[in-house]
Amino acid sequence: MKIENKRIIITGATSGIGLETLKLLQKFQGTRIIAVGRKIELIPKYENVIPYKCDVSQEKEVDALFQFALEKMNGIDIFIANAGFGYYEKINKPDWAHIEHIYQTNVFSPLYSYQKMVELNPENPFSFIATASAVAFYALPYYTIYSSTKYALNGFLDGIQYELPKNAHVGLVYPVATKTKFFQTSSISTQGKEIWPTQTPDKVASAIVKGILKNKWKIMPSTIFYLSTIMGKFFPCMIRMVMKKQVKEPA
Ligand SMILES: NC(=O)c1ccc[n+]([C@@H]2O[C@H](COP(=O)([O-])OP(=O)(O)OC[C@H]3O[C@@H](n4cnc5c(N)ncnc54)[C@H](OP(=O)(O)O)[C@@H]3O)[C@@H](O)[C@H]2O)c1
Repeated sequence: MKIENKRIIITGATSGIGLETLKLLQKFQGTRIIAVGRKIELIPKYENVIPYKCDVSQEKEVDALFQFALEKMNGIDIFIANAGFGYYEKINKPDWAHIEHIYQTNVFSPLYSYQKMVELNPENPFSFIATASAVAFYALPYYTIYSSTKYALNGFLDGIQYELPKNAHVGLVYPVATKTKFFQTSSISTQGKEIWPTQTPDKVASAIVKGILKNKWKIMPSTIFYLSTIMGKFFPCMIRMVMKKQVKEPA
């Protein structure tokens, strides 16, 4: 889908991958963008960007976001569900609220936003992008619950291909470890060791933009990761061995 003149919402726009994507999208002529996050003071000022404070884990707040977009832009052509976070942890006690908290942001919110886009656009062509992760293919040690949220998005993509409306494009993004605040937020301690491979958020952002322009189904910003998904089909044990060594057990 062309990006010029489109009405866009991007969540998780206050930092990392979302912020870099926002910087690229706002350059396209005629775009109007609602940039979403909780710390909206971090969003740079652009003429065509409206910062919007919203906790995307809450149904009512997502409803209000769509209402706001209708009032300000009279519609939404591209929705990028990028907001998300991780847990670095050892699972050792039952905690419903802990699981619910991450699923609300990482899974319920993107799926619900997709439903809202379908309802809003019975005919108007639209693109829906969500940021999954490389861990949607290969779970990362001690990121078990987080990985499961991204596997859930992968399942959504697998299913939606059978019922995708003709006017819709859906794409998932699969970044590898990206140098953002993500690791601080999930309190990861890799004991000084860098997860491999890594990439920068601007690289992921330009892959997202290309993915929208080319209506890509799976957006893989890392070539090494793309090759590993092919290799993993033939040598799954090798991939598991690499993953096992990536992160140490939490103290
Ligand atoms: N960094 C990586 O290694 C990596 C790898 C694969 C996939 N990803 C995925 O990429 C996406 C972006 O992460 P990032 O790496 O850019 O991390 P980041 O720098 O920590 O950014 C996370 C963004 O999500 C927003 N967010 C989180 N919870 C929210 C909520 N409840 N409501 C509204 N906004 C919320 C944050 O905004 P506020 O705090 O302002 O609300 C922030 O803008 C996530 O979905 C993450 O799972 C990251």
